[in-house]
Amino acid sequence: MSTADTPGHKGPPPGLHLYTRDGFVGKMCVAIRPHMIYEYSAVDGPHAPRRLNVGAIAATDRDDPWALPTPIASNREGVVVSVSARSAEMPYVFRNVECDEIHFIQAGEIEFITDFGVLQAGPGDFVALGRTITYRVRPLTPSTLRIVVETPEVLDLAPPAPFGMVNQGRDVKRPTLIDLPEEGAELWLKSFDGVTRYRVPRNPLACKAVIDGTPPAWKLNLRAIAPLAYPTSGGPPAQFCQSSTADIMFYTLSSRPPAGRPPQHHNADYDELIFYFEGPGAYGAMTDPGDMIWTPKGVTHWGPTEHVAEGYFAWLLETRGTMRLTDAALAAGSAMETGSFGLQVAFAPSPSA
Ligand SMILES: [Fe+2]
Repeated sequence: MSTADTPGHKGPPPGLHLYTRDGFVGKMCVAIRPHMIYEYSAVDGPHAPRRLNVGAIAATDRDDPWALPTPIASNREGVVVSVSARSAEMPYVFRNVECDEIHFIQAGEIEFITDFGVLQAGPGDFVALGRTITYRVRPLTPSTLRIVVETPEVLDLAPPAPFGMVNQGRDVKRPTLIDLPEEGAELWLKSFDGVTRYRVPRNPLACKAVIDGTPPAWKLNLRAIAPLAYPTSGGPPAQFCQSSTADIMFYTLSSRPPAGRPPQHHNADYDELIFYFEGPGAYGAMTDPGDMIWTPKGVTHWGPTEHVAEGYFAWLLETRGTMRLTDAALAAGSAMETGSFGLQVAFAPSPSA
């Protein structure tokens, strides 16, 4: 579909092309081309956009309480994105000794029992767990669906201004201490080469008090993060959380006024993974909660309008390392066009065919 064919098109003129470095915070260059350049009619190779629904992933922990979340994407810098559909309490306690983690709750209610207290999380919550936090996940509903992002770098809240986008006093929650039994546990330590299992005689999660510092765990709901908006011609979204080296950045990509469709984009340094959380409005062709798209870096994309009257909630994960989807994600997904993030249905034979 060309720009001129798009009903109610507002925003940048047809053919506008934005090239950016460092996500949306580095140098940029804008050009106007005589035609749209995002379309493609054939592709052959690993660096090709895909879409899927995270609920369609064959998550092994759905029926096996001993299983870990199922990886759906990873890169050479150690970032891993996984999906969990856990329905039973973890029969072990867990410690990721090499990565910070952020869990996004797509569906269900989950209790995270950590060694600094308990966080109860529900749909739309991001739960951050610093490296080497010990925790146990306990579903509070019969089914759950969760996206887990892990990175070797330190993750922290990083909105571009201290107030407004995130009300940290009101909306960022820290763990609450509860009484826990002293009984021992099986303790799993996850490192780059797998899981090492310990048997410990006393409960490592039991805690009498936090007497100094801040627990390296927090919770924040996507609905409480205000998208950054610009009053006239629009501008990029803003990240609310990132790693210390900016190897990954988390953005709200929820609907926002007032500009229309973004320009066509070349993101020179980051892959883009977008997760559609909920409507009622659609975000382009993304309409089902749990829809996820991956646009690898350097692939021309346009993107739907973000100014949707009914509203929707979505988030964007940018990764500096080039991602590759796992077999589990490839099996659950399909090729994608990068205009409205719909299914790519009109493939010609591949270039080498
Ligand atoms: Fe983009």
